[in-house]
Amino acid sequence: MTKQTLKHPYKGSKAQACANIALVKYWGKRNAELNLPAAGSLSLTLDKLRTTTSVQFDTALSEDEFYLDDERAPTKRLSPWLDLIRKRAGIQTRARVVSNNAFPTSSGLASSASAFAALALAGSDAAGLSLNKTELSELARRGSGSAARSIFPDFVEMHPGTLLDGSDCIATPIEQDEDWPLCMVIAIVGGGIKKSISSRDAMDHCAATSPLYQAWIDSVAPDIEVARTAISERDLPTLGDITEVSAMAMHAAAMASRPPVRYWQPGTLACLNVVSDLRQDGVSAYPTMDAGPHLKVLTTMSESQSVADALSALPDVSEVIISGPGPGASLIE
Ligand code: DP6
Repeated sequence: MTKQTLKHPYKGSKAQACANIALVKYWGKRNAELNLPAAGSLSLTLDKLRTTTSVQFDTALSEDEFYLDDERAPTKRLSPWLDLIRKRAGIQTRARVVSNNAFPTSSGLASSASAFAALALAGSDAAGLSLNKTELSELARRGSGSAARSIFPDFVEMHPGTLLDGSDCIATPIEQDEDWPLCMVIAIVGGGIKKSISSRDAMDHCAATSPLYQAWIDSVAPDIEVARTAISERDLPTLGDITEVSAMAMHAAAMASRPPVRYWQPGTLACLNVVSDLRQDGVSAYPTMDAGPHLKVLTTMSESQSVADALSALPDVSEVIISGPGPGASLIE
């Protein structure tokens, strides 16, 4: 890491990053303060779900300012995270952060993953820091665990690490010899209603109260191993099976929390039935879900439109998005 001498006025920096969907889920922490996950995870970065963020440190500001999709937003989560950058850069200056989600719809899909990945890059650059991708991944993780993965393109593995300071808790890209034309079909269920409980609160509650939590954590490393091998062998049935069972195991652990955490809605189950029927008809379609009612289906580019058509026909599905693999975080302009 190099630190450059800062002058006033600071240069503004702008970056973009894509959201990602985990095929093997992250659900539980080993250290809340440093935001260290209890286990690894494995994801696919998606090109259709992008966040663009600009950061300007400004000596005229007495507090951080945050504008999200053209509206003033709270800085409760942002400011302590910006303090990490300020500490590293040896500055005290407050910042103006402007972030826009170019997601196809205001569906409730807005992701902290693309947000903190874009912020890590724009924020560190604006503060005069020149961080490598590993350092960016670590910094993004402090904002949101899944954000560490959005620094990188395509398939990405998050390593839980063992060091107490979390410096080995970073994501790395999974290199492939050639592109694998997979994609994700996202069915918006429930019209993009706000989630009942955030993933952060839900995973803490699950860890504290679910009798299935430890079994879930123990399942993650073997699932990652299988998924990594399936990617290297381009074995979609195996990767798809792991994708499905990882999501189901995560949700089973969450549902067994006391009181239960349940993100599913009737439309979610209807989507799952459609995906089962498609599979019986020989279509490669494998479902996953995050902390919300929407269904995400891993499939091939060539089969994506038939998967999208089948899901669109359901009354509880308000929109369907088809997204291919996306690039890693990058500075723009
Ligand atoms: C269900 O990354 O949002 O989407 O680290 O507390 O910010 P924090 O959690 P977050 O959790 C994502 C949970 C998930 C699964 C995943 O993306 O791996």
